[in-house]
Formats: sequence, structure tokens, C-alpha cells
Amino acid sequence: MRPSSRPYPPVGSTNPATSPRSSDAQATRASSARAVVHRSAQPKPDPAAAQGLDGVVAAHTRLSSVDGEAGRLIIAGYAIEDLAGTVSWEALLHLLWFDALPSKEQLRDMRSEFAARRSIDRVTSAALHAAAVADRRPIDCLRIAIATMNGRGGDPPPASMIAQDKDAEGWNEAIGVLARIPVCVASAARWAKGSDVPETRTDLGHAGNLLWQLHGVDPSAAAIHALDSYLVTTADHGLNASTFTARVIAATGADLPSALTGAVGALSGWRHGGAPGPVLAMLAAIERPERAEEWLRARLAARERLMGFGHRVYRVRDPRADVLRAAVERLRDATPDGPAAERLRLATAVEETALRVLAEHRPERPIRTNVEFYTAVLLDGLGIPPALFTPIFAVARSAGWAAHAREAAAGRLIRPRSAYVGRQPDD
Ligand code: COA
Repeated sequence: MRPSSRPYPPVGSTNPATSPRSSDAQATRASSARAVVHRSAQPKPDPAAAQGLDGVVAAHTRLSSVDGEAGRLIIAGYAIEDLAGTVSWEALLHLLWFDALPSKEQLRDMRSEFAARRSIDRVTSAALHAAAVADRRPIDCLRIAIATMNGRGGDPPPASMIAQDKDAEGWNEAIGVLARIPVCVASAARWAKGSDVPETRTDLGHAGNLLWQLHGVDPSAAAIHALDSYLVTTADHGLNASTFTARVIAATGADLPSALTGAVGALSGWRHGGAPGPVLAMLAAIERPERAEEWLRARLAARERLMGFGHRVYRVRDPRADVLRAAVERLRDATPDGPAAERLRLATAVEETALRVLAEHRPERPIRTNVEFYTAVLLDGLGIPPALFTPIFAVARSAGWAAHAREAAAGRLIRPRSAYVGRQPDD
């Protein structure tokens, strides 16, 4: 076999080396026909495949829509601006799952079901503890923990769901897995420091219990509200890489922990879930608003990227950036002497300067503030260390992953084709 110098094999053409030559005409015709069929079935290399499936529509969903030109994010019929700061993460999950925000009673039942399902079993706890004390990255600890969780059949179904007769098994599985994700994040963080994990609290919701288990002190209403605003803002965002991963896995018929394990793996990559940490490093390096312009211009002159700016889809300002900025402002107003106040003053000055210098640097390309910029400021204001930013992003996005997994599980196996650009046996 010799290497071919051609970049791509001929598509749909017969190779002279396989043309009929022997007297066994029938067999030759058959094998030649096979070769022709095989070759004409080869898809042509599609430029979209080489460019990360840009522009390819790979799913129908009723869950969320991202309009990059208009800067609009719609979640199940609601603009993100109308949800963040108004509803809790649990209510958003209900919206994604049942296509309606919950009534007061439904929300109360849901919160008590979540509270009842927070304890992690011995298998998960042993694996998570081993990973945390071995200093594995917090996002890897979460991936390991979710991989050990029970899927369908793990917990007895909640009575309220059986009574409503709405996909009780799927909902039961979702609560059983999603309720434990923040507990795993907090437990790994505390075990890694050699601390005990505070008992879960039934009087707190998803966001409040996470803050409680992370810090071991009663979270303020303002802190719970700020974290809930973040969790809602980032709960779903079209067919991003981790959501697509969850859909592909769920469409095979695999259970929810399998889909979420893959999704967390996708999120752990630096191209997807990792920018808020570097945003904080940038703010720390700039230190004071007066230093912003010189610092930012020097980075651009060195052909570096400014963290927290630019987006693959949004060509205007990421709508989530505004929503999160408003959440940080509320947190600052509630705790004027807290860390959020000082950080916000610096962040707004850096943002204003960065937008001005980016516009001068690349006048033809709109590079605007993205979600990661104010995520960094908000999570930092809540006393959350940068190493936990991506795991907490996973806590938020688990709502979208679960709802997308359910949608995909009801559809067909996802099996695209690849364009073979390698050698043929007879080349
Ligand atoms: N700072 C400076 N220049 C930037 C930039 C930024 N934040 N974002 C994009 N650019 C420039 C690139 O340098 C590139 O210039 P070039 O054509 O001279 O090489 C050009 O704009 C296009 O970049 P590209 O990576 O192809 O654009 P994209 O739209 O696919 O990129 C991001 C999207 C998010 C990867 C990119 O904007 C980025 O790296 N941002 C910083 C990291 C970040 O905040 N990530 C979180 C995203 S939510």
C-alpha cells in the first residue's frame, strides 16, 4: 500500500485498477458494482464539517433559541431578561421540562423533592472523596461522581408525579441526578481542603443549599438571589457543545447519568467552559481602573485575546452579560461593603475601556462583552474560588442538559456521516 499524494479520494468515479479484466464477467460485474456503489456513497467533504459544523441545524428543540445577530436568548418562550432574577433555577427546570412555569404548589412540591434527594450514596461518595483528596480538578471530580450515579430505577418515584401521571420515571431520574450535582461540587471542594461537609438543609433551595454546603455559613437572601440569577441565566443555550454531547448520548437510549457524564467532559474543555477564571486573573492584573487602558492595549499589541469578550454566535452584546451585570449590581446594593462592590467598580471601568480599544483594534469585527465577564465578577462576589466556576456552570447547565437529553431520547439515534478523506486500499 503506498501513500496517495491526492488530498481527497475521487468521489463517485471508478478506478481503472478495478475495471473488469477477467473472463469471470458476472463476479467482476458484481464486485465492480459494489465498488461503484461504495464509492458513489462516499459523501463529499463538507466545509461545514471542517469548521465545527458551523451553520448546520442538528436538532429541533422547543427549549431555547439563540439569535446571535439580534442578541436575543429565548428559553421555552420567555426572554432571558424576564426569567433571570425573577424565577429560581428549580422553576426554570420546571419550565424546560413541562413547558410551563410552576404554580406555587408545584414549586413547593418540587423543592421538597429536591431537598429529599440530596444525599449521595456510598458508591458516589467513595469515588468523589478519593478523587477530591487526590487533588483531581473539581470539574473532573464532578464527572467521576456523576458517572457513578443511578439512572432510572435509582430512587422511588415522587408521589406528586405519579399522581400527575407525567413522565414520572424520567422526572424522577432527573431529580435524583440533578439534586445531587451541587452537593457533589461542594463536597469535593471541602474534602480537597480536608474539611467536613455540612449536612444538606431541607429549608434551602438548590442555590441556597449549595452556598451553605460550600461556605458552612447561613447564606444571605441577596447571595441566594445572585446565585439563582446566575444559574437561571446559564441554564440553557441552544446547541452548545456539551448540550449536543448530552443529546447524542441520550439518543442512544443511555440513561441520564451517562448523558451528563459526557456533557461535563465536554464542558471541561478550555474552548467551552473555562473563561471566567482568566477574566478574574485579568481584573487582578489590572488592579486599578486607571491602569486598564495601558494594560489592555499592551495585550492586544501582543496579539492576545481579552478574556470575557467576543462570542462564536453573538455579533452584538451577549444578552446574558447585561442580566448578570444587573445581578451583580443588586448584590453590591445589598452588601455595599462586600467584595462585589470593589470588583464591580473595577469591572465596569475595564469593560468600558476594553470595548473602546477593541473597537479601535478591530473596527470591522464586533467583539462585545460575553457571559463570562460578569460571571467572574458575580461568582467572585459570592466568595466562590475560580477553580469552582466551571463546576458551578455545570450545576446551572444540568437543567438544559437533562431537558435536551429527554428531547433527544424521544427522537432517532444521532448518526451523521463522515466524509472519508483517507486512502483507498487500491491507491
Ligand atoms: N480579544 C481580542 N481579539 C479577539 C477576541 C478577543 N476577546 N475575540 C476574537 N478576537 C479576534 C481574534 O483574534 C481573531 O483575529 P484574527 O482574525 O486576526 O486572528 C478574530 O477576532 C476572530 O476570532 P475567532 O476566534 O475566529 O472568533 P470567534 O467568534 O470564533 O471566537 C471566541 C469566539 C469566544 C473563541 C473569542 O471571541 C475569544 O477567544 N474570546 C476570549 C475568550 C472568552 O471570553 N471566551 C468565553 C466565550 S463565552
